[in-house]
Amino acid sequence: MASIPGNVLERGDATLHQRFRHDVLAGLAQERKAIPARWFYDRRGSELFEDITRLPEYYPTRAEMEILRRSSGDIAKAVGRGRTVIEFGAGSAAKTPLLLDAIDPAAYVAIDISGEFLRESCAALGERYPGLPILPVEADFTRAVDLPAAIAGRERLGFFPGSTIGNLAPDAAVDLLRAMRTTLGDGGMLLIGMDRIKAPEVLLAAYDDAAGVTAEFNLNLAHRINRELDGTIPVDSLRHRAVWNEERARIEMHLEARRDIAFQVGGRRFAMAAGETIHTENSHKYDDRSAATLLLASGWQPLQAYSDGEDRFMAVLAKAMALRITP
Ligand code: AVJ
Repeated sequence: MASIPGNVLERGDATLHQRFRHDVLAGLAQERKAIPARWFYDRRGSELFEDITRLPEYYPTRAEMEILRRSSGDIAKAVGRGRTVIEFGAGSAAKTPLLLDAIDPAAYVAIDISGEFLRESCAALGERYPGLPILPVEADFTRAVDLPAAIAGRERLGFFPGSTIGNLAPDAAVDLLRAMRTTLGDGGMLLIGMDRIKAPEVLLAAYDDAAGVTAEFNLNLAHRINRELDGTIPVDSLRHRAVWNEERARIEMHLEARRDIAFQVGGRRFAMAAGETIHTENSHKYDDRSAATLLLASGWQPLQAYSDGEDRFMAVLAKAMALRITP
């Protein structure tokens, strides 16, 4: 998957551990408990997410792959020849080849905060594309990133699949897209995956599947807190909840207390009343208009929204807006 900004795999890094601890303790101390979604992805969480992408109810991964296949010719024509592809997040084994095959780029750069994950995915791509220059860059792409000198002078196509942008509320999404605008430069383009607003029943099923894999993914965060932060959360007393927030056009995931509970994390005490929740994820959904507004607010001119046959998902192609005087 394209990793969520700040997402990392376990690697015994003290500063990461401290950030996890800080986010969890601060989030649990809030009146409305919340933990950033990026902390789902320890080894077990990453495996569970892979399982989610294969669930019958979880359509986004298959829909995006269908788009990349069916629109590859149109995308190639719109993007032109000789660009460098810059993927935000270590390349996804399944999606990256679909784009590379379509546009035959001059070089491929993957930016990810986890060097380990990055090296693995770049090594795999190198075997598949022996003639293609592949450049891993270990960096936090929520800020502007300096790209290798080797690709200087080439126009860039950013690739941010997976609807990872949906994890961010609009204000944070704009910050990220503006940083990408800076990284990709004048003449840059961006191909970004966004999930479409659709019937709440379809959305809710995708985030609360019959086999319970999404529930396990959500509950794994509580297990991770117990494992890594000396937690005593009674995980059996939490239940997975997926909610459609119509006003904000997003699916929310929560961990809800089945009864009054008390526990410790990192030496601090917390309590939850029955029915109280820890908010663990937002997954924002867009239509053509809201997607265009988000991009325009971030310095990106939308060119085309490519959709799957059932209009469930979109890959939006945008070009960097020129920095010039306007009325
Ligand atoms: C990886 C953020 C795109 O929001 O659909 C899947 C994560 N959470 N099921 C999404 C997720 C629950 C996923 N993203």
